[in-house]
Amino acid sequence: MTASRRYHITTFGCQMNKADSERMAGILDAMGMEWAEDPNQADVILYNTCTIRDNAEQKVYSYLGRQAKRKQEEPALTLIVAGCVAQQEGESLLRRVPELDLVMGPQHANRLQDLLEQVFEGGQVVATDAVDILEDITKPRRDSAITAWVNVIYGCNERCTYCVVPSVRGVEQSRTPEAIRAEMEDLSCQGFKEVTLLGQNIDAYGRDLPGATAEGRHQHTFTDLLYFVHEVPGIDRIRFATSHPRYFTERLIRACAELPKVCEHFHIPFQSGDNDLLKAMARGYTHEKYRRIIHTIREYMPDASISADAIVGFPGETEQQFQNTLKLVEDIGFDLLNTAAYSPRPGTPAALWDNQLDETTKADRLQQLNHLVSIKAAERSQRYAGRIEEVLVEDANPKDPTQVMGRTRGNRLTFFKGDSTELKGRFAKVRITEVRPFSLTGELLSAADQSEISNPAVLAEV
Ligand code: SAH
Ligand code: SF4
Ligand code: F3S
Repeated sequence: MTASRRYHITTFGCQMNKADSERMAGILDAMGMEWAEDPNQADVILYNTCTIRDNAEQKVYSYLGRQAKRKQEEPALTLIVAGCVAQQEGESLLRRVPELDLVMGPQHANRLQDLLEQVFEGGQVVATDAVDILEDITKPRRDSAITAWVNVIYGCNERCTYCVVPSVRGVEQSRTPEAIRAEMEDLSCQGFKEVTLLGQNIDAYGRDLPGATAEGRHQHTFTDLLYFVHEVPGIDRIRFATSHPRYFTERLIRACAELPKVCEHFHIPFQSGDNDLLKAMARGYTHEKYRRIIHTIREYMPDASISADAIVGFPGETEQQFQNTLKLVEDIGFDLLNTAAYSPRPGTPAALWDNQLDETTKADRLQQLNHLVSIKAAERSQRYAGRIEEVLVEDANPKDPTQVMGRTRGNRLTFFKGDSTELKGRFAKVRITEVRPFSLTGELLSAADQSEISNPAVLAEV
C-alpha cells in the first residue's frame, strides 16, 4: 500500500540536487504519496546528499543518525539516501547505517519508483552503477511556480584535482535540444516565466550528442541551444549555470547580448587568481584568460553581473598566491562570490598531496577573502541606487508579508511593498531606494504580465 504513505525530502548541495529532488518528489506524488512538511510525520524519508566538502558530508550523517534512531521504534519507516554521498559511499553506507533501505546515486534519480518498489517488497537496495540517464516522464514537483530549473547536461568530464563531482555524477550526458525545448514549452503552459538551464560544465553541452565530429566540433553547442530555446513563448527570462572559463566563448557572450530573454548574469567560477595554483588544480586557463573573458562580457554588456566560486587554502597555496586571489577579487569586483576553504575529498588527487595547509591558515584566509567580497559586493550594489529595475516577482517576503520579493535580471534579490497574490509571476518596474551588499529594496511603479525587456516588439506596439 503506497496510497497512504507520506514522504519528506531534505536536499543538500547544489542546484543539480535541487532539480533532482523536484523530479523525485514528482515521482513520489505520481505513486500516490503525499508530501509531509514535518519529517517526523513522514513514512518515507529521502536525503538527497552532497559531498563536495567534508562538512557537507558530515551534516548528512547527523541528520541520518536521528532518523535511524526513530526507525528503531518505527520499523515501517523507509529511509533513503540519494545523491552524491550515496554514490561516493555505496554499500559502505549500509554498514555505517544498517537502518537504510535504499542507497541511490544521482544517475538513478529518475528510477526512484522502480527502486522503491523493490524496497517495499522487502529488499535493501543499492543503486550506484553508472547508467544512461533516462528521460524523466513524471512531472517534477517544483518548489516555485514562477522559476524552474531545466537540466541540459548531467555529469562532468573535467578532472579538477580537488573535486569529487566527476566521480559521483559520472560522465557528461546531454539531453537533446528537442527534449529541453519541450520541457520549456510545458513549463510555459503551466505559467512559469523563468528558466535556469543547468549543467556542472554547461559549456560542454552537446559534445556527446550524435553529430559531433572527430575533432570535437559539434552541431549542438550550448550557444546553439540558447538560440534554439529562446523562442519558447511565455518564458521571458533564461539563465544558465555553471560556466567554465576554459570553454567560454565570445560567440556565447554575443548570443547573450543579442538574445533579449537571456539575463545579463554570468556565473563563472575562477577558483584561484594564481596561475601556478590554477595549473595544480588542472583548471586549464590562466588568470589573464579569466580577466579577458570578464572584460569581453563587460564590453558587450557593461552592466552584467558577475558571480563566481573560489577556493582558498588549496594544497601548497603560499601567502603570495593567496594575495593573487585577493587581487583578482579586488580588480574584477564580483556581485557575488561563493567562497570555500579547501577540503580534501576521497578519491581526488589533491587529497593525497603532502603539502596540505593547516586549518587555521585556511580559516584565516577564508575570513580575509569574505571580508573583501562583502566590501566589493556593497560597491557593486551601489550602481542600482535610484535606478528602475525590472523585477520578476516570485513570492511574498517570508519575513514581511506586506512585501513581495523577486530578482532583477542581474539576479539581485529585491524587496518592495506589494500584494503577492496580485503580483506573483508578474514583471514589476521597481525604483531602487535602498541598497545592501547582496539585496535591494525599492518601490513599485508598474507591473505587467510580460517582460518589456524580453519582448521589445510588445513595447514597440504600445
Ligand atoms: N562545476 C562547477 C562547480 C562545481 S562544485 C565548476 O566547475 O566550477 C561547486 C564549487 O565547490 C566549486 O566551484 C568549488 O569552488 C567548490 N569546491 C569543489 N570541490 C571543493 C573542495 N574539495 N574543497 C573546497 N571547495 C570545493
Ligand atoms: Fe568539479 Fe571541475 Fe567538473 Fe566543476 S569542472 S564539477 S570543479 S571537476
Ligand atoms: Fe554537492 Fe553533488 Fe552538487 S557533491 S555540489 S550535490 S554535484
